[in-house]
Amino acid sequence: MSDTATLTFGDSNYPINILTGTEGEKALDIRQMRKDSGLITYDDGYGNTGSCESTVTFIDGDKGILRYRGYDISELAQKSNFLEVCLLLLDGELPTARKLSEFEDKISSFQNLPSEVLHAVQSVPPSTHPMGSLASGLHALGGACSHLCTNDRAKDLENFDDAAALIIAALPAIAAATHRQKTKDNLCPPNNSLNYCENFLSMMFAKDGDAPINPSLSKALDLIFLLHADHEQNCSTSTCRMIASGGANPFASLSGAVSALWGPLHGGANMAVINMLNDIHNSGDDGSKFIQSAKDGKSRLMGFGHRVYRNYDPRAKILKSACDEALAALGLNSPILDIASRLEEVALQDPYFIDRKLYPNVDFYSGIILQALGFPTNMFTVLFAMGRAPGWLAHWKEIAQTGKRIHRPRQIYQGSNLRQYIALEDR
Ligand code: ACO
Repeated sequence: MSDTATLTFGDSNYPINILTGTEGEKALDIRQMRKDSGLITYDDGYGNTGSCESTVTFIDGDKGILRYRGYDISELAQKSNFLEVCLLLLDGELPTARKLSEFEDKISSFQNLPSEVLHAVQSVPPSTHPMGSLASGLHALGGACSHLCTNDRAKDLENFDDAAALIIAALPAIAAATHRQKTKDNLCPPNNSLNYCENFLSMMFAKDGDAPINPSLSKALDLIFLLHADHEQNCSTSTCRMIASGGANPFASLSGAVSALWGPLHGGANMAVINMLNDIHNSGDDGSKFIQSAKDGKSRLMGFGHRVYRNYDPRAKILKSACDEALAALGLNSPILDIASRLEEVALQDPYFIDRKLYPNVDFYSGIILQALGFPTNMFTVLFAMGRAPGWLAHWKEIAQTGKRIHRPRQIYQGSNLRQYIALEDR
């Protein structure tokens, strides 16, 4: 097959090169098209636009495949853990035992936040959403460690390993400080004898005299982080890359990504799922009325549908069984899990959802586990951000190493043509 396509416009033909990815995806390389033909492409919402070449994550949405650096998500979920996956994403390879242990030590040594960062996080107006506090905390962290945050790309790259470890280490402490500002509890300092997730659970919830953290619960949290660690060019990652393309440091780029993740159609969906399930439960509906109203366009079945997956999101499959295990470990029955299972069962047999290829996504079950672990709903998206941080950082590094141009899409202007200014008194 030819590796060139031809655009015919007016009386002219313009050859367009075909770019082929390592998994066989093909793309029209239109970089010369405007120069040659005067045309740009129009793709509202970027649904059919490849914004970059990347080596981090591969998704085949039709087949329900997700791989980090070539490793299938279900194999990683079974055999790996979050910190190992962080290094896989950041460095491109699975770490040696020594490298992993050095990374774990570095994370432990960075877990004590500079006091001014804690102060910044706890000084925001108490009604600030935890995602706003998280974004502020990242800026404050960059300010407190200004040698890692210079906006000089060469220097920021040279210090990248430290900046990445610092951010991954600091996020649990920032999140816990945010939570404790709301609950008006004293801060609980990090404990280096605990692993990453145990330490986070302890900083979040520990009170004097508490029993040690149940290992199956910290394992469930580790799995949630691992499953969220990257997802190629989604809204927040593209935001991170966009900011990075202008030369901004990792702290600023991740803070922007946190803001992008906040919305209910993106990372905020895990909160929205729980609110939806609670509303259905409280209204006495078994889910049937809600399904009908989603089909009528009056509501949206949150946690269903995905821009890329037109098949079962592989992460949702893994989380569904993790959800059962976490609830069993806690000895809990969840009426909202029963509603979720029923919604899924009904939707997967309903032509509305089948025809539109709408399947459960990662958010459909993650919120139920997080709620069972004791996280308040407004912290769910913060947990998503903590899991996604290594992915954002890997994309920041990719841009810093390979990105030559600032990201700058074009538009089709549909506004007024040239007009004459009318003086205020004449309007
Ligand atoms: N419930 C009911 N109908 C839906 C849903 C849903 N969850 N999702 C899509 N549809 C319908 C749309 O109304 C549309 O119907 P139409 O063709 O009759 O107009 C059709 O399916 C296509 O939907 P789009 O909105 O074009 O799909 P898009 O790819 O733009 O949106 C999105 C994807 C935002 C994820 C959407 O499916 C959605 O809103 N889902 C619920 C929110 C959610 O769970 N977000 C998390 C996504 S995963 C993540 O970010 C981690």
